Amino acid sequence: MDEKEMQRCFESAVELAKKGGELIRAAFDKPKRVDCKGGYSTDLVTETDEEVEKMILMTLRERFPTHAFIGEESVAAGEPCTLTDDPTWLIDPVDGTTNFVHRFPFVAVSIGLFIKKEPVIGIVYNAPQDLMYTARKGMGAQCNGREIHVSEQTELCQALVICEVGGTREPERMEVVRDNSYAIAMPPDPAHSVRAVGSAAINMCLVASGCADAYQEYGIHCWDIAAGSLIVTEAGGVVMDPKGGSIDVMRRKLLCASSPQLAQQISSCLKDIDLPHD
Ligand code: IPD
Ligand code: CA
Repeated sequence: MDEKEMQRCFESAVELAKKGGELIRAAFDKPKRVDCKGGYSTDLVTETDEEVEKMILMTLRERFPTHAFIGEESVAAGEPCTLTDDPTWLIDPVDGTTNFVHRFPFVAVSIGLFIKKEPVIGIVYNAPQDLMYTARKGMGAQCNGREIHVSEQTELCQALVICEVGGTREPERMEVVRDNSYAIAMPPDPAHSVRAVGSAAINMCLVASGCADAYQEYGIHCWDIAAGSLIVTEAGGVVMDPKGGSIDVMRRKLLCASSPQLAQQISSCLKDIDLPHD
């Protein structure tokens, strides 16, 4: 893809994330229709998730008819979730749906573009707080136009680490969630503390901005982390498989950190599990 086309993709993603964010803000304080997904009373979806995804997909399909698309709600409705070498947009229309339902103000639109299975554009718009995080491969990461950078933390015992519970409640995965948070919070090398913000995309932007030092989760999906993964690496951080090696966004596990040293310390205390691929 040439530079002009890449810039057109970038500008479209920023424009649509903003538009999606306006829909989220308009609905934020209003009563919502809340449904559950996949048989879990903890995995929520609202009409705003569907409305935002429809709006983003319709515009991107018009502008980029040869590209491929993976959207959280389209996949939930039965569309394929296949990442090929083709330019592919990965969209999470409302990341932090449970936060949105409860008016906990960490809710984002996340739009990533992958080419040859690698992220080239990452946009995360934290709508309630009006924070627009942007990244293009090789061009750094910004928040509202200002450069952001990960913290310089290399020591787990001085780190603030984000550990999420996730939306579903499979007993095997929940054991790993429990044991991993415990391992990070307990001696011999306890982190300063652990946090759960409730939006994978925002968690990654917090690491990218140096407000948190690391984030690990088992159970996330490709649309949760597609945009954030580029924002973290462009901000100087590390994004990897929790047990080492490069990340596969379809494998539903993630570790990101401000430094390779911190990532390694966290990795060594994590229990691993294989989950069904996206
Ligand atoms: C969820 C959020 C949450 C994470 C879950 C995700 P959703 O996305 O990102 O922080 O723990 O794994 O599924 O359902 O709000 O779009
Ligand atoms: Ca999500």
